[in-house]
Amino acid sequence: MGVIVVEGIDDGAWVSHLATTLPHFDVHDVDAEVQPDSVTYVVMWRLPTQHLEAYTNLEGILLLGAGYDHLDLGSLPNVPVVRLIDPAMADDIALYVLSWVIYFQRDFDRYATMQATATWQSALKPVFARNFTVGVLGSGAIGSIVLTTCAKHGFATVGWSRSAHDRPLKDFFRDCDVVVDLVPLNKATRGIIGAPELTALGDGVLINVGRGATVDTPALIGALNGELRAAVLDVFDSEPLPADSLLWRHPKVFVTPHVAGRSDPVTAAPVIAASIAELGAGRTPPGTINR
Ligand code: GLV
Repeated sequence: MGVIVVEGIDDGAWVSHLATTLPHFDVHDVDAEVQPDSVTYVVMWRLPTQHLEAYTNLEGILLLGAGYDHLDLGSLPNVPVVRLIDPAMADDIALYVLSWVIYFQRDFDRYATMQATATWQSALKPVFARNFTVGVLGSGAIGSIVLTTCAKHGFATVGWSRSAHDRPLKDFFRDCDVVVDLVPLNKATRGIIGAPELTALGDGVLINVGRGATVDTPALIGALNGELRAAVLDVFDSEPLPADSLLWRHPKVFVTPHVAGRSDPVTAAPVIAASIAELGAGRTPPGTINR
């Protein structure tokens, strides 16, 4: 029987759900006593390489999340590394985005400001969903679900990805009322959203649910001090967001602590089990990272 170890990041829910979905494996928390050479798969987020090197018979690493920019792939053992592609997580992100899109399309931010001065002004120019454009930067597995969720609720939608686009990034920003940043972080996308893009967004809204470092933060603060209507930030250059960051206090910034898409063991354990079955059969599961 193969042995799987799971990075302990919760109260044991991952171990118990994986044990149920993988009845032919012994599943343990990484802190449990196991023979290192019996371990065939590791389910993890950020276990250090020195720890992984003890598992001399490792056949695969399964990640507990969708991103992998926090890992130094070159230093990991030479086995397949599979990121999590859980449609339920994409739905979770899509609902987070949709909530904010509706918040701004229905002017809730403006009514909150008016309430502070007991101002009754019902004559804000109504903007209906069909005239409110949600753009998604990085229209991969998660981005495409965000786009279809917003489209299903009547919003105008447009996607932009580095590999498939019909106009420069700045023009895409110009066309949107809200831009949702879901672009994966790599050398080419670090700081991809800078002053020119934020200026082109005008009095629109930036929602970042991808990675903080894809946005040039000083340029974002500059844009917020100017015309930009708001930024909803779930991810940051450095997490937790340092207490002295201006972003905590900026009146146009809404901060959430990296919770837009939560990894749920109930839905993710079957996805991870299916990936392990594929790896065991010598195939390449969806989400395998090209190293
Ligand atoms: C979370 O940010 C993830 O990559 O799953």
